[in-house]
Amino acid sequence: MEELLRQWDGECVVVRHDPPTQAWILIAVHSTRLGPAIGGTRMRGYPGVSEALEDAQRLASGMTLKLALTELDAGGGKAVLCVPRRLEGAERAGLLRRYGALVHSLGGLFQTGPDVGTSAEDMDTIAETAGPFVHSRPEGSGGAGDSAPYTALGVEAGMRAVCERLDGDGSLAGRRILIQGIGNVGRHLLERLLQAGAEVLVSDVDARALQQAAAAGAVRVVPPDEALAAECELFAPCALGGVLNEQSIARLRCRAVVGSANNQLARPEDAERLQARGILYAPDFLVSFGGALGVLGCETRGWSPQEARERVAGSIRRRLAEVLALAEAEGLGPEAAARRLAERRLAAGR
Ligand code: PHE
Repeated sequence: MEELLRQWDGECVVVRHDPPTQAWILIAVHSTRLGPAIGGTRMRGYPGVSEALEDAQRLASGMTLKLALTELDAGGGKAVLCVPRRLEGAERAGLLRRYGALVHSLGGLFQTGPDVGTSAEDMDTIAETAGPFVHSRPEGSGGAGDSAPYTALGVEAGMRAVCERLDGDGSLAGRRILIQGIGNVGRHLLERLLQAGAEVLVSDVDARALQQAAAAGAVRVVPPDEALAAECELFAPCALGGVLNEQSIARLRCRAVVGSANNQLARPEDAERLQARGILYAPDFLVSFGGALGVLGCETRGWSPQEARERVAGSIRRRLAEVLALAEAEGLGPEAAARRLAERRLAAGR
């Protein structure tokens, strides 16, 4: 833990143990240079609290990059609720309220929304104690609702930009696309891709999620251990991070990777490994900013849902095209080019 805290380039980490649930609450504030640190609240189990801390730190850094690429004035952070088991009912609500009180005490330094393991409904519970620093609450509570549909829309826009780049044709009709992870975002992405006429393959470690996906339309199910090696045009990681590593990259049989999972690259050098294999990598922190942009746009800029959808799709398409053009002009990989654009905005400040 000491080493992780010493090495991190973020601003601070707030840590609190929650005796009633034995959970650890970690709030990583990476950067407030462009505005309050904003990021989702992730709730899941980890082997230990240092793994949870490392995840929170990496995810918070990713949010700084994400939000710097949007038109919003927002910094990056992330919260992890490291729980010993799945929490439900009163126990879950208790933890969320105590966590909300901690968020409130930070006075707006950190603001949150849903992420892996939390929902728009959970945001309502957090808001009972956190007050105005909670986004993506259900529409009935005055929020913009779940962020996942906006994230999925952004991924689809990213896919179109990539296809445009590869073939001069942004249409997804007839293209074979593999979605890894049929969770909150994966489900919405599946629907959109079927509508766009793509041939969709799906994979998930959860058999029930797969059954639902199969019921949703004509999809082929790929067993989890074969997903990486499945032949497809686009591979869309929509589950947890770290899927792109030395071993998996060697097995990939796709033309491009475009997905919503955060921190897809296990190590920075995996970006070069993808490039060496001739696989176009659409940086995750760009392709997945639709959720935060759509929700925050509605809640802080007064966009209508329709306007938010147009802006999410337009921003991601434009940003990705810009990144791919910069990458080519400078002989960089797309990941490095996207970082450069984000860092430029961060250097300029607000
Ligand atoms: N989970 C979102 C992400 O990773 C974070 C978010 C959603 C933040 C909605 C604010 C509002 O990008």
